[in-house]
Amino acid sequence: MAIPMLISRGEFRAVPWAAQLLAAKRSSWRCVSCRHARLVPSTRPRRFATAASADGSKKPYYITTPIFYVNAAPHVGHLYSMVIADVLKRWQVLLGKSDAQLLTGTDEHGMKIQRAAQDAEMDTQAFCDMNCKTFEALAKATNIDYNHFIRTTDAAHKEAVQYFWEMLNHRGYIYTDKHEGWYSVSDETFYPQSSVHMALDPSTGRKRMVSMETGKEVEWSSETNYHFRLSAFKDRLLQFYKENPTWVTPNRYMADVVKSVSSGLQDLSISRPVERLTWGIQVPGDETQTIYVWLDALINYLTKAGYPFPPGQEGRLGWPADVHVVGKDIVRFHCVYWPAFLMALDLPLPRNVLTHAHWTMNREKMSKSTGNVVNPFFAIDRFGVDVMRFFLTYQGGLADDADYDNEYIIRDYKKMLQWGLGNLAHRIMGIAKWNLRPYVSAAASDQLPPATPLDLEHQSFLETAPAKVAEHMESLDPRAALRETIVIIEKANKYFHAAEPWKNRDQNQRIVYNVCESLRISGILLQPFMPSKSQELLELLRINTADASKRNFSAAAFGADLEYGGESKKHVLFPPLASEE
Ligand code: ME8
Ligand code: MG
Repeated sequence: MAIPMLISRGEFRAVPWAAQLLAAKRSSWRCVSCRHARLVPSTRPRRFATAASADGSKKPYYITTPIFYVNAAPHVGHLYSMVIADVLKRWQVLLGKSDAQLLTGTDEHGMKIQRAAQDAEMDTQAFCDMNCKTFEALAKATNIDYNHFIRTTDAAHKEAVQYFWEMLNHRGYIYTDKHEGWYSVSDETFYPQSSVHMALDPSTGRKRMVSMETGKEVEWSSETNYHFRLSAFKDRLLQFYKENPTWVTPNRYMADVVKSVSSGLQDLSISRPVERLTWGIQVPGDETQTIYVWLDALINYLTKAGYPFPPGQEGRLGWPADVHVVGKDIVRFHCVYWPAFLMALDLPLPRNVLTHAHWTMNREKMSKSTGNVVNPFFAIDRFGVDVMRFFLTYQGGLADDADYDNEYIIRDYKKMLQWGLGNLAHRIMGIAKWNLRPYVSAAASDQLPPATPLDLEHQSFLETAPAKVAEHMESLDPRAALRETIVIIEKANKYFHAAEPWKNRDQNQRIVYNVCESLRISGILLQPFMPSKSQELLELLRINTADASKRNFSAAAFGADLEYGGESKKHVLFPPLASEE
């Protein structure tokens, strides 16, 4: 089966050196129909930049979110991925890596979008432009500190994808074949017969074929398209997983990936005939085929990093990514297909894939296609941006799904924010008559009263707590890091109540100071999670806002800042929720 594979000159005008490279390679190209003989990938050792091997110092730390389909408006599940990624980025900034990069964006090609635009009776590009804005607006509204918002319809991305395709083809990893199987438009995935079954649609009573994994409807398809030799990468993938056992976190997803690859890999269809799919990037030199949306989408992470890379500048903009944040629904794409595509081109692999579980509504996955979603704009209107960021990170599951309910948000708000943090801050400020300076000065000149065993116990807790938070962040567990930070506030509350500074005037200076230190340390550590509320807290304590060194991770140590305090304005950090007033 021959599909014409002519590559027109001048396609890569935007990257002249890439055009030269291609021209050089073209002379050795053969037509695709001559390439049916299976190419075994070279066995020469390759150097992958992984957590273990890379020289991370020279490139910016680089974090990504999935790029979201623009078939419908975002829901809190998408916000969750964005928040987790943003917390990771802000944590790096807290550590002093101010050039850390965060990429988010939208996935705009494929059948799912083509059909959604048709259903909306809109021009497809106009439909994408409209919906993409909602995702970007959500990122802005929720204080996601992204450096770039990518769209797969961007010209630079199309160029990167076509270049990537040509390189795969040049190396012999692409061939044409007939493909028969079940395709789910909702999942944008082919499924083999063994992965689908007949099921009743509860809403219509109609029987239909669905994917066993996702429950999404599949349709039979028989077509000729291009294939990627995924099967050739089985051993190398398994070897890579073995050498990098924490590449995917939490650990349980790593185990699933290894199991699934061990059980065998089939080659992958990487294009669709244009009669079926027009809305996508054309296969270079073949106007009868459109590139499969997942190959197109994954490359977005490279596009932002400047791919095709000018010689010698691979890592300049961040590649390899330090962390891809993904939902568990797209682990296979990121942990099997993506490393195989990269291996095929000898490109460094991402260093980590942080996978999270799903938000559910009544235990069913919240999903745009199903429609059982919570509008994140309404949620932030009702509860506030930082409260939502807090709730999603604190309760959202990395390993296990979490059920969403407004009642839970209200419960957590009252317990941890209003009572736990807000009330403690308010009470201690009240005791100090809204001026902490005398207490901090006394500590600075070593004039605090002698420490009781209770004081010492709390002080030594404060000395160890920040490192524990950092350890959790280091192992890519923002949920555990936030929980550890909340423990600081809980312990400070217990200490405050046990030490009773309002009773014992002689002793209270040290107690007030220790509680303030607890608030200062937790305020610094909360910055990645609640950027605005933590700011309010730090301002309440009158920490020098102009001096970044007073707010970074090294300042989150007992006694590290002896200059704060001063007259503060009375301010309630966590007022009663509007809906309860
Ligand atoms: O899969 N709970 O896009 P998508 C938590 N375009 N997170 C959820 C969620 C839920 N209920 N629902 C969605 C795609 N997400 C592709 C990705 S990447 C190169 C291409 C989050 O719009 C989660 O991160 O279906 C999930 O993986 C992603 O949104 C899927 O978004
Ligand atoms: Mg999806």
